[in-house]
Amino acid sequence: MKRTHYCGEVRKSDIGKVVTLQGWVHRRRDHGGLIFIDLRDREGLVQVVFNPEKNSTSHEAAGELRSEYVITVSGEVAARPQGTVNPKLPTGEIEILVTSLEILNSSKTPPFSIDEESEVSENLRLQYRYLDLRRDRLRENLLFRYNFVRAVRDFLHTKKFIDVETPFLTKSTPEGARDYLVPSRLNAGHFYALPQSPQLFKQILMVAGFDRYYQVVKCFRDEDLRADRQPEFTQIDLEMSFVDREDVISLMEEMLSYVLKETKGIEVTTPFPRMSYKEVMERYGIDKPDTRFGLELRDISDIASGVEFRVFKQVIEQKGIVKGLNAKGLAGLSRKELDDLTEFAKGYGAQGLAWIKVTQNGFESPIAKFFTQEQLNSVAQRLEAEQGDILIFVADKIKVVNDALANLRLSIAERLNLIKKDEYKFLWVMDFPLLEYDDEEKRYVAMHHPFTSPMAEDIPLLETDPLSARAKAYDIVMNGSEIGGGSIRIHSKTVQGKMFELLGINAEEAEAKFGFLLEALEYGAPPHGGLAFGLDRIIMLLTGSESIRDVIAFPKTQKGICPMTDAPSLVERKQLRELHLKVEE
Ligand code: AMO
Ligand code: AMP
Repeated sequence: MKRTHYCGEVRKSDIGKVVTLQGWVHRRRDHGGLIFIDLRDREGLVQVVFNPEKNSTSHEAAGELRSEYVITVSGEVAARPQGTVNPKLPTGEIEILVTSLEILNSSKTPPFSIDEESEVSENLRLQYRYLDLRRDRLRENLLFRYNFVRAVRDFLHTKKFIDVETPFLTKSTPEGARDYLVPSRLNAGHFYALPQSPQLFKQILMVAGFDRYYQVVKCFRDEDLRADRQPEFTQIDLEMSFVDREDVISLMEEMLSYVLKETKGIEVTTPFPRMSYKEVMERYGIDKPDTRFGLELRDISDIASGVEFRVFKQVIEQKGIVKGLNAKGLAGLSRKELDDLTEFAKGYGAQGLAWIKVTQNGFESPIAKFFTQEQLNSVAQRLEAEQGDILIFVADKIKVVNDALANLRLSIAERLNLIKKDEYKFLWVMDFPLLEYDDEEKRYVAMHHPFTSPMAEDIPLLETDPLSARAKAYDIVMNGSEIGGGSIRIHSKTVQGKMFELLGINAEEAEAKFGFLLEALEYGAPPHGGLAFGLDRIIMLLTGSESIRDVIAFPKTQKGICPMTDAPSLVERKQLRELHLKVEE
């Protein structure tokens, strides 16, 4: 290795040393005979100076240098002349006086500048990802991601967790998304599924006696993609034997505290707050609330049922609800702004938006005339309204009301600047229902996954009132994003069988799909439970990134495409034949 230092690591204390650096030409400036290059490598920039009086050959060669050329330079580290120190750069006090230059490679003019964070279309950035990754922000994100995972591994090692790899070519796993299938050449008509998570394997590892397992592992889900969803993403996946919910939760709190301290210097307070699913839905309308700000929802169905307003009355009669939130201090919203908010709510299925302004003249609202003064006072009291506030209501089926108001809540918080960007608020959401009813499929589906244990006291409900049974499941939410979830698992074959029955999976189907797990449960399965964090989402939040794609080296577009490699692509007919496949045009 010729290199003696990384460009970004040369310091004042190196003055007088002769160093050899290798990197990319970041920027070039010619100044009356002197040529200045900002030379860049992974660790940062350093200024190198070509002086014809010092070394005329290198100075001449430097004339050929263009952006992104790859070079080796040697020279002495010198203090920058007075007045030219750059306090913004860690190497800003020094420069390298070049005595030799070797050009290792040239570069075409890049399609976008590495230098500034100029607006570049994401497609172009993804097509030239290697150039995009040379830019500061992405490099820092990936470096942070590496440090985060390293801290996680350090922590889990001290807690006696063992990293075990599980297969990618496997059977369908039931996390509720669509599978990616891989045709088998050796077994015509048979397919592997890429794992949606290592769920079943980690449970089997507990049966095998490994006691504490973890893996930083790719999971594959063929879902519609969003800003926080990728078709392949990474989980920090864990499982533990002989534990209850409290054990898992307190260990995970300890882990997050350790890792956040190590990687961001943040002190978090434990234990994290907890709320039941029921409570978060009532107070926030969503199971992953952002708890950095208030603006909580309040149910006013009881008051609304007595009001002469047709919309409210009808909704209540049809077993719907009326909920509202207090947009503090926004009584000044114009008609136009209120119309925009109404359109926004309609985007979430609401039929309309009702509002009441609290002004110095009292309550102002198109619907105030339907309320008695007493009813208006009760509503105002419930929502803790003060002069200058505006109360916003949606009446509909419970799901629509919660959806619309939860999203309005976020949008109003943004408008009111209530969200502190550098604050991290955790929340455990507990006591999820075990099952929910799928209206389309006309059957129960597991809210977490079919291996999640019901609460012991709710097991009788499986016979009488399955939808009221609660699960030993928990989600962890940070700043309004679900960053992880897990549960205590079923370790009894009987309960597992009962669960499959409820889910409409008959014995034969259960055998075909999960027979290996059911059988394993019969050979001394210990009680066990665990959790998986969505690593990409956590890194996205901690780096303040807008998109999950900015924390993944080689992500896919919203359409599941990689513009750099052009995957997915057509394949040769011969390959299809070998795989026993025919593609319909
Ligand atoms: P779950 O399905 O909740 O649980 O996934 C765990 C976490 O993974 C993240 N996540 C995703 N991140 C990016 N893109 C996606 N498409 C995506 N899907 C999920 C979320 C989520 O909280 N086997 C169980 C865990 C367990 O029970 O132990 C599981 O996979 O942050
Ligand atoms: P309408 O009588 O339909 O003109 O509605 C009167 C007011 O109630 C308008 O401001 C509507 O936006 C609002 N509104 C209509 N439907 C609902 C609803 N489901 N929930 C809340 N407000 C509504």
